[in-house]
Amino acid sequence: MKDLLKKYEQLKEEIQLHNYNYHALDDPKISDSEYDKLFRSLLDLEEENPQLVTPDSPTQRVGFSPIDEFETFEHSVPMLSLANVFSEKEFSDFNDRILKRLVNINDFEYFCEPKMDGAAVSLIYKNGILERALTRGDGRVGEDISQNVKTIRSIPQKLSSSEANIPSLLVIRGEIFISKEAFEKMNEKAKENNEKVFANPRNAASGSLRQLDSKITSSRPLSFIAHGLGECEGIQFSSISEFYDHLKAWKIPTSDLCKKVETKDDCLKFHDKILKERESIPYEIDGVVFKVNDYDLQKRLGFISRAPRWAIAHKFPAEEATTILEDIEFQVGRTGILTPVARLQPVIVGGVTVKNATLHNIDEIRRLGIDVGDRVILRRAGDVIPKIVKVVEKGISNKKLEIPKKCPSCDADVILVNTSDLKCSGGFNCDEIQKGQIVHFVSRKAFDIEGLGIEIINTFFKQGFLKDPSDIFKLENRKDEIVSLEGFGEKSFDNLITSIKASRNISLHRFIYSLGIPEVGESTARNLESHFEKFKGIFEATYDELIEVKDIGPKVAENIIQFFQNPLIVEMVPKLLEEIALQELSKEDFKDMPLRGKQIVLTGKLENYSRDELKEILISMGANVTSSVSSKTSLLIAGEKAGSKLKKAESLGIDIINSNQCEEFLNDTKKFL
Ligand code: IVH
Repeated sequence: MKDLLKKYEQLKEEIQLHNYNYHALDDPKISDSEYDKLFRSLLDLEEENPQLVTPDSPTQRVGFSPIDEFETFEHSVPMLSLANVFSEKEFSDFNDRILKRLVNINDFEYFCEPKMDGAAVSLIYKNGILERALTRGDGRVGEDISQNVKTIRSIPQKLSSSEANIPSLLVIRGEIFISKEAFEKMNEKAKENNEKVFANPRNAASGSLRQLDSKITSSRPLSFIAHGLGECEGIQFSSISEFYDHLKAWKIPTSDLCKKVETKDDCLKFHDKILKERESIPYEIDGVVFKVNDYDLQKRLGFISRAPRWAIAHKFPAEEATTILEDIEFQVGRTGILTPVARLQPVIVGGVTVKNATLHNIDEIRRLGIDVGDRVILRRAGDVIPKIVKVVEKGISNKKLEIPKKCPSCDADVILVNTSDLKCSGGFNCDEIQKGQIVHFVSRKAFDIEGLGIEIINTFFKQGFLKDPSDIFKLENRKDEIVSLEGFGEKSFDNLITSIKASRNISLHRFIYSLGIPEVGESTARNLESHFEKFKGIFEATYDELIEVKDIGPKVAENIIQFFQNPLIVEMVPKLLEEIALQELSKEDFKDMPLRGKQIVLTGKLENYSRDELKEILISMGANVTSSVSSKTSLLIAGEKAGSKLKKAESLGIDIINSNQCEEFLNDTKKFL
């Protein structure tokens, strides 16, 4: 019994400390899933030993007591938390518990919502005017952050009254957050200015909200989405869906992902659908929430300690975890830049085991203050490369980071460029740089050769079949050697050769892009093509000629000159030209740029291209890229989760292509316009 009590006290203390770090300091020391696990073990312990439970247990309260700087107010209706489930089975048990309690009721509606990962607030409107905004605090008492909340544009100071009555008192609960895109931009700016970088959008949102100077809050890109009713005087609602309809009329933001459903299976389908869409949702969500839609039924179900019995959060796999940094190694890429890579104690994050993470450059290592042996927070959102966001505990390691003086691949000297990048000076004599060139050469936007992945390129390179990109076209002559390699059959060889042959016909801009000239991307390659028309012109161009080309400045001009002066390139280019059928166009072809006079709008999440990249390419082809759809729009390129612009374009009968048709469109615009 004594041991049990000790364990209980320790667990409570540990959780309280994490609550303090998270809620009061915005500086969590463990990941959310680790916190959830701790919390769950406390719940289990209390369930098995109810005599232990004390009122100060973290299971009995929400969050952390407010800090002193803000005036505090009691919530008229407590701000509760949600219980979590992590599997279908657990959700099914939750559903059974409801059915058991609701005697005589066999079916009821659920209201499904995304679980936004931000900071909870309570907004108090008196006669339609925003009077006060409170943080959740400990659930009973919150901090007055009215001045800060009033700087958030999506929160109306006054309820819009065109369609619905205005209640004398309305308390709305919701989440304040920062979109993923705005968060990245905000952190980039902070890095440039040597300011504090936030670990994730949630910390950034909650840190921004609790600024004592509301000017700082107003400079932060905060958004709001409502997710609940505190109280209302003057209007009665029978369900969440009815309440949300009123919110919409009052111009209070609600999530357009919300859905009313009939069955528990529909809830599970909602969970799977939102999980699949997670990456393309512009803000971070850590799960979905299922709520009994009917307010009378909610009342009958009531609450247990800190959470309602009528709602549950079905959490997604965590995107953050903590682990130990075991080593830092440097990898050489195509451009010769050495990227520090963190070797980690393997850990599951976002549903996959992660062993490596990028550390970008030495500045990033210094900014994080990271050493081998430290415990770190690792973040992996969707398909994004895992990265270390924070050190949570210093380790004791006598292995200090050594900045390499020699390239780990070719032993050439390492030089410092752009103040924080290390670069191998070996050029094309470095195997890693050469391999990187080949990988780039076969990539989708270049020669697009299927069947030549990194692993195979490595093997062929080791075997001496590939030294530079021109050797790709000679692989055909090495059939016997290749098919005798392990894992390489006759069929895969034939497929590879077919794909290589098909790639021979190539436009000039694609060819230029494939060469991998530093800082010459797709749109610069197109500008070079339309300026010079022929490869010879580009190959022989002088600096003065190059800076005449649209969007080419001194740096890129210099890169092009240097590239074509490299003896290895001078030797390789004629070999390549012999193998391919270069499609060079004449002045006539450019007289009318293919998209001249066309107005194009981009919307939704685009595949394969970043928005800026695609915009640049379209402009280089003569298009006018605008932000809103009108009758003058020639074409809408709609990515995933396209919303109102897509609807408008449909209603105006404008041509629409989806984002995976982009490449086809760029290659042959006439087919679509
Ligand atoms: S309902 C009494 N709905 O998650 C019910 N909460 O872990 C209280 N949250 O404190 C909350 N999205 O800050 C609800 N769609 C959603 C939510 C949501 C995010 C937050 C909220 C709450 C916390 C509980």
